[in-house]
Amino acid sequence: MRETQLSPNDFIYPVFVCAGAGVRIPIDSMPGVCNLSIDRLVDECREVASLGIPGVILFGIPPAKDAIGSGGYDDKGIVQEATRSLKRELPNLLVIADTCLCEYTDHGHCGIVEDGRVHNDKTLELLQKAAVSQARAGADIIAPSDMMDGRVGAIRSALDDAQLEQVPILSYAAKYASSFYGPFRDAAQSTPQFGDRRSYQMDPANHREAMREIRADLDEGADMVMVKPAMPYLDVLWHAKREFGVPTAAYQVSGEFAMLQAAIRNGWLDRDRAMIESLLCIKRAGADFILTYFAKQAARFLG
Ligand code: PBG
Repeated sequence: MRETQLSPNDFIYPVFVCAGAGVRIPIDSMPGVCNLSIDRLVDECREVASLGIPGVILFGIPPAKDAIGSGGYDDKGIVQEATRSLKRELPNLLVIADTCLCEYTDHGHCGIVEDGRVHNDKTLELLQKAAVSQARAGADIIAPSDMMDGRVGAIRSALDDAQLEQVPILSYAAKYASSFYGPFRDAAQSTPQFGDRRSYQMDPANHREAMREIRADLDEGADMVMVKPAMPYLDVLWHAKREFGVPTAAYQVSGEFAMLQAAIRNGWLDRDRAMIESLLCIKRAGADFILTYFAKQAARFLG
């Protein structure tokens, strides 16, 4: 009589890849999650695959950053190299490439900055280059997380022009300007050096706007959409799934993970129960799949 079943097949594991060899740097605010060099990442992903988790989403930490985020669309960039290695070693593991500039810009914004502001349309051209180079490296899914207007359509046409029309787009469609991304930004060293992301990410107060954002991304060619963060936005997730009925992802973000882990570490919450309940409820609210830092632990628990 259970209406919702959770399985390792529901999860996508977010991973952070950095330069070097033999590197495994723990991220303080995300217990159990590390920055990994490509060789270590492959080992980690072998474990991920053996647990029945179908895929990973890749975030790159480049050796150097600049004003135009060139590491993001370099064919020899960290994510491109990592993707090639993963697809060679573990061809059946799905590789989702997060497409954004904030990990690669020295100012930490998700786009080109001009006169102290993010320039939407100039950013689109760079996102197109990033998506094409990620897909050429073998990424199975392109996931734009920048929230520029028009980026799904721009990326779709760039992929099509490059004969990559079979590569689907998972759009971070309803992505809020949330405080819950803090630990991720520490890990990716992508905290904006000035201002914030409120000019391109959404106001947590808005629900109808999320539906408009999702509709726009679907009209532009998104194959799957995402709501992010997950737990504080289950109403948005529920509504999005009912309204559009397309494959819908939820991202249980770094701050949600950190908050649960902090309480678990203090002995204030039971790890397995809190972890499974949080994921089960995200699925009940409408997620077809969940990006979560608990993926490995939850898959192990579910067996
Ligand atoms: C890149 C991106 C971010 C996250 C995923 N992609 C950071 C941000 O928008 O600041 C956050 C993920 C997390 O907190 O776990 N734009």
